[in-house]
Amino acid sequence: MKITNPRPFLILYITFFSFSSKISIAAQDKITSSTSMSANDTLISPSSTFELGFFTRSNSTYLGIWYKKISIQTVVWVANRDTPLSKSTGILRIDGGNLILLEGLTKVVWSTNISKGVARPIAQLLDTGNFVLREEGDNNVDSFLWQSFDYPSDTLLPGMKIGWSSKAGLNRFLTSWKDDDDPSSGDYNYKMDPNGLAQLLLRFQSHIKYRSGPWNGVRFSGMPEMKPNSVYGFYCVSTPDEVYYTYELLNSSLISRLMVNRTGHIERYTWDLESRDSIWKLYWWAPKDQCDEYSKCGPYGICNVNSSSVCDCGKGFEPKTPEEWSLGVTSAGCVRKAPLQCSGDGFLKLTAMKLPDSPQAFVNSSMSLEECRIECLNNCHCEAYASADIASGSGCIRWTSDLIDLKQFLNGGQDLYIRVPASELGMHFHHRSFVFFLFSF
Ligand SMILES: *[C@@H]1O[C@H](CO)[C@@H](O)[C@H](O)[C@H]1NC(C)=O
Ligand SMILES: *[C@@H]1O[C@H](CO)[C@@H](O)[C@H](O)[C@H]1NC(C)=O
Ligand SMILES: *[C@@H]1O[C@H](CO)[C@@H](O)[C@H](O)[C@H]1NC(C)=O
Ligand SMILES: *[C@@H]1O[C@H](CO)[C@@H](O)[C@H](O)[C@H]1NC(C)=O
Ligand SMILES: *[C@@H]1O[C@H](CO)[C@@H](O)[C@H](O)[C@H]1NC(C)=O
Ligand SMILES: *[C@@H]1O[C@H](CO)[C@@H](O)[C@H](O)[C@H]1NC(C)=O
Ligand SMILES: *[C@@H]1O[C@H](CO)[C@@H](O)[C@H](O)[C@H]1NC(C)=O
Repeated sequence: MKITNPRPFLILYITFFSFSSKISIAAQDKITSSTSMSANDTLISPSSTFELGFFTRSNSTYLGIWYKKISIQTVVWVANRDTPLSKSTGILRIDGGNLILLEGLTKVVWSTNISKGVARPIAQLLDTGNFVLREEGDNNVDSFLWQSFDYPSDTLLPGMKIGWSSKAGLNRFLTSWKDDDDPSSGDYNYKMDPNGLAQLLLRFQSHIKYRSGPWNGVRFSGMPEMKPNSVYGFYCVSTPDEVYYTYELLNSSLISRLMVNRTGHIERYTWDLESRDSIWKLYWWAPKDQCDEYSKCGPYGICNVNSSSVCDCGKGFEPKTPEEWSLGVTSAGCVRKAPLQCSGDGFLKLTAMKLPDSPQAFVNSSMSLEECRIECLNNCHCEAYASADIASGSGCIRWTSDLIDLKQFLNGGQDLYIRVPASELGMHFHHRSFVFFLFSF
């Protein structure tokens, strides 16, 4: 008897063990194939930075991650945001190599849904806030079977990425909560542009609301506040296989998060662990002003909050619909006064610009600015060019269709060279050096 059927004893023992050691279980950071997590259990990362557990909003229960050290519960990730549990009877466990979230005993409401199986999978909450599924003993970040950082909710923690990877078949982006009390997917999302330029787009459903502007080697061109500093390191990586933005926190006295809020703003908050007042401080947000509104002044229209008209047409351009324009309806934008001739065209320099959007834009980081000018000049469809790296002044971005969402800053921004026909260049200039001050007319 003892030999043929030892199981009931084993199960009894485990049950007894988990009841009698509730407190030590609550302080764990892992679940394995033989443990599970239910209603009041939580996982706590090794240095008690983050906690994973169940939380309830408006009578629905979710599995999520929040800061352990912060008095205001701030949820940074939700597993089952669109498939809530109706009661707090969820169980998280590992099943056949996947993490599954059960309602009751059998209904799977959420799963990591991966097909690669390993012998001894464990799920662990790391101090970065990343919840990972991995093979026991294999700590290599590249061999994680699954990680919550690849499936962001509304929050970007340090080390998380916004962007895509064709190798991993992933597109990581932020989606707002529906309401303060409802983590289900809201209407705003913040994604890496999959086209030519490495830039972030904030959308309401499928409509672009705000654009970061392309990465210019130092920051996103539409975010002049994003200066090198002692608190954050910002990075944008762009290869044929993947394009992503990420950041790191350089000061360990601070906690920081970037989020897209439910009313369509990107916000960065910080929490000072050394300060006595326990609040999230709003450090930065976007969109900020009316010139951040996507394509506010239409194609070729230049938006400047300090201009009395806000929208202006640059030299060589005029409003496409003048009556509307004079009434402040600027979405039709500007058109050229005289058509491009292809040969003999030149460029006018606009200063302090957020680089434009365009359905067609090309980046080559190894070209010099002069090579960029020649390349643009030699292509009759090339409408503008600019340096792709403001730190070195080299690199090349060329736009070969209408220029959209042009913004001029009071300071910050960079030079943008717009193609114009010879007739707009002025007789006394050498064909290369056109300096054009927008507000001189
Ligand atoms: C969880 O904790 C609450 C409050 O302490 C308690 O009422 C409830 O019965 C607990 N649930 C389980 C499954 O232990
Ligand atoms: C939660 O459920 C209770 C009881 O069914 C109900 O009275 C209450 O309105 C619900 N609250 C929300 C926010 O839905
Ligand atoms: C799981 O993944 C497969 C293919 O990768 C997909 O077809 C399926 O819809 C996914 N299931 C869930 C519940 O996400
Ligand atoms: C880090 O932040 C804390 C709190 O704001 C500040 O007191 C400290 O000077 C900062 N350290 C550095 C190196 O910037
Ligand atoms: C979203 O962020 C903007 C900018 O910080 C703020 O004005 C707005 O109140 C926020 N919305 C919510 C719901 O917090
Ligand atoms: C912006 O406008 C304000 C008020 O009209 C003016 O005082 C300021 O000098 C302007 N700044 C620039 C850089 O044009
Ligand atoms: C970028 O420019 C360099 C120098 O002109 C050229 O050799 C290279 O082929 C270009 N790369 C691409 C991807 O076009």
